[in-house]
Amino acid sequence: MNFAFGTPSSIIFGAGTMEQQLGAQVKKLNGSRVFILTDPGIAKVGILEKVQQILKKEGFEVGVYDQVVPEPPIETVDKIAEEVKDNAYDLLVGLGGGSAMDVTKVVSILVTNGGSARDYTGSDKIKKPGLPTIMLPTTAGTGSEVTKIAIFSFPEEEVKKGIVSPHLFATAAIVDPSLTYKLPPNLTAYTGMDAFIHAAESYISKNANKFTEGLSLIAIDLIAKNLRTAVSDGDNAEARYNMSLGSLIAGIAFGNAGVGAVHAMAYPLGGQFHLPHGLANTLMLRYVMEYNVVSCLDKFAVIAEAMGENTEGLSVREAAFKAIEAMINLAKDTNVPTRLRDVNIPKEAIPKMAAAGINETRLLSNNPRKLTQKDLEDIYTNAW
Ligand SMILES: [Fe+2]
Repeated sequence: MNFAFGTPSSIIFGAGTMEQQLGAQVKKLNGSRVFILTDPGIAKVGILEKVQQILKKEGFEVGVYDQVVPEPPIETVDKIAEEVKDNAYDLLVGLGGGSAMDVTKVVSILVTNGGSARDYTGSDKIKKPGLPTIMLPTTAGTGSEVTKIAIFSFPEEEVKKGIVSPHLFATAAIVDPSLTYKLPPNLTAYTGMDAFIHAAESYISKNANKFTEGLSLIAIDLIAKNLRTAVSDGDNAEARYNMSLGSLIAGIAFGNAGVGAVHAMAYPLGGQFHLPHGLANTLMLRYVMEYNVVSCLDKFAVIAEAMGENTEGLSVREAAFKAIEAMINLAKDTNVPTRLRDVNIPKEAIPKMAAAGINETRLLSNNPRKLTQKDLEDIYTNAW
């Protein structure tokens, strides 16, 4: 099959790379007035201050927006872009989880393309490259630092929608695992499960190719073998290193191969009930994979092996179902709920969620097995 493969222009990985490389990258990109976009949590744990110090020491002018919220409403992007234009900032730093980085990516293109973020909802609607951007992820999950996708909530419609364009690739991603050391266990688990789901869904995606399949499997292996330790012992540098690496590689894989029905069915949970993205995904994981497994038994058997399951002597079908068991165990061992009722989603909400989920055609078209609205209702019912 034919395919294209894309990533940011440069990816820098390793503990301490933020301190060692950020100034040099800003210089390389001819930045002088740097604007940092982050969330209040990052400001509170002292990471923002450290980033500001590094940039100021190098002689750059530094501005900050530290009010990015989870599931960012689309309107916030327009306001921040105005601030960037008014102050003539010439380089943006996205510091935080998926929300801070997604906002940064779209602010960057609004400054050069004009208009409102709403105008660019959907695929390939952005004409010109944006301001240079540097991404500094503080979680090991979203992969946003290496994808051309940004996701926003549309509060009045109670849905989440994506903006997709090659112009949303960051100019540079600096992935420094030490920025994740202070992430609490529950957020480590939610974001880590999101990364795992990126790896698993991209592996079985209809748009997967040999490039992405190899990356997906490396990520599955790293995440399945390190997430438990990263959650139970957050100071474990090796587990954090492997989780950041797994999340980064999963990001590149799903950024090119796409994700499927787990994400499509998690979006209504985010849009209507404001559940954290990784939690919403984990709630759907088992039930979507139980639906998918018969469509690609071979691939599921390979996933089981990559997760470290002993598949010796098993038939392909038995090994495939072992992958699902291993996924359930990963969620349980990291204390992430796996049923909708566990997080108080009313059963009556299912028809409306299924009606919203079936519109996620960008994601559902990647899923290895076709789904109708009735299938979505059945899967939500199983998950309840
Ligand atoms: Fe995700």
